[in-house]
Amino acid sequence: MENLHESVFSWITPRLRQLPWRDTRDPWLVLVSEVMLQQTGVHRVLPKWEAFVAEFPRADECARAPLGDVLRLWQGLGYPRRARNLHEAAKAIVSEHGGVVPSSLEGLLGLPGVGPYTARAVLAFAFEADAAVVDTNIARVLARHHGRTLKAREAQTLADAWVPSGEAWLWNQALMDLGATVCRPRPMCEVCPVAFTCAWRGGGAGDGDGDGDDPSVGSAGVSVSQPRFEGSDRQARGRLMKALSELPVSVAAVSVVMDRPEDVSSRLVDDLLREGLIVRDGDELRLP
Ligand code: ADE
Repeated sequence: MENLHESVFSWITPRLRQLPWRDTRDPWLVLVSEVMLQQTGVHRVLPKWEAFVAEFPRADECARAPLGDVLRLWQGLGYPRRARNLHEAAKAIVSEHGGVVPSSLEGLLGLPGVGPYTARAVLAFAFEADAAVVDTNIARVLARHHGRTLKAREAQTLADAWVPSGEAWLWNQALMDLGATVCRPRPMCEVCPVAFTCAWRGGGAGDGDGDGDDPSVGSAGVSVSQPRFEGSDRQARGRLMKALSELPVSVAAVSVVMDRPEDVSSRLVDDLLREGLIVRDGDELRLP
């Protein structure tokens, strides 16, 4: 294990990606970054995180704002339910934790929209606590290194056992970067610092016979390919949310704004109303 840790640390030291949320230990700012990064890539998150934390440098400032302001800052990130949950989390941080982001796993898991991944990411990246995060990249590294398709609980247990005591911050960031740059869906085992103990590599990873033997395929937490965006409900919802972040939209115009038939657009509007992401004001829709 020590060799493995040393190998990863010497690999990451000159390579750690410079990302602004890695320069802070403020748990609110880390929480915002992790919620954004749950389903959106680093490059799209960068400008949105900067704008968001400039507007809401503290949880109480976010909590006081109308949801519409939070959704406007979220515009372009997709999956706006995350913005609603983050806003709810900010309110809970104020009402239940005196405005201070909780530093325990239980406290974090009690916040809206905060699951096992995000809670541990805040523990490791803000509080530098010995927590192991399992995001999609790390889940892939784990499954391959251990040479088998893992269930969620197993992946978490193996990840926990891997964390070098007192070094969880750098360890987790390093594994993320390893998964993002080397242990990619198409791996680059020649340059991998942990190939020497990797079970999959030992069993002939990248041996030219395709990835049929890749243990990360179907392993818990490893993302599967995203459904098509073009023509999807998500695309149509996104069109309306984008329009509403500028101006209210009349109910009669929704089908055109979404570029969908009336029956589809009215179903999607009903969903958005039910989710609390939009409100109806007479004949107009607007952000809450
Ligand atoms: N994805 C999720 N958390 C991340 C982080 N802290 N750095 C880079 N990518 C991430």
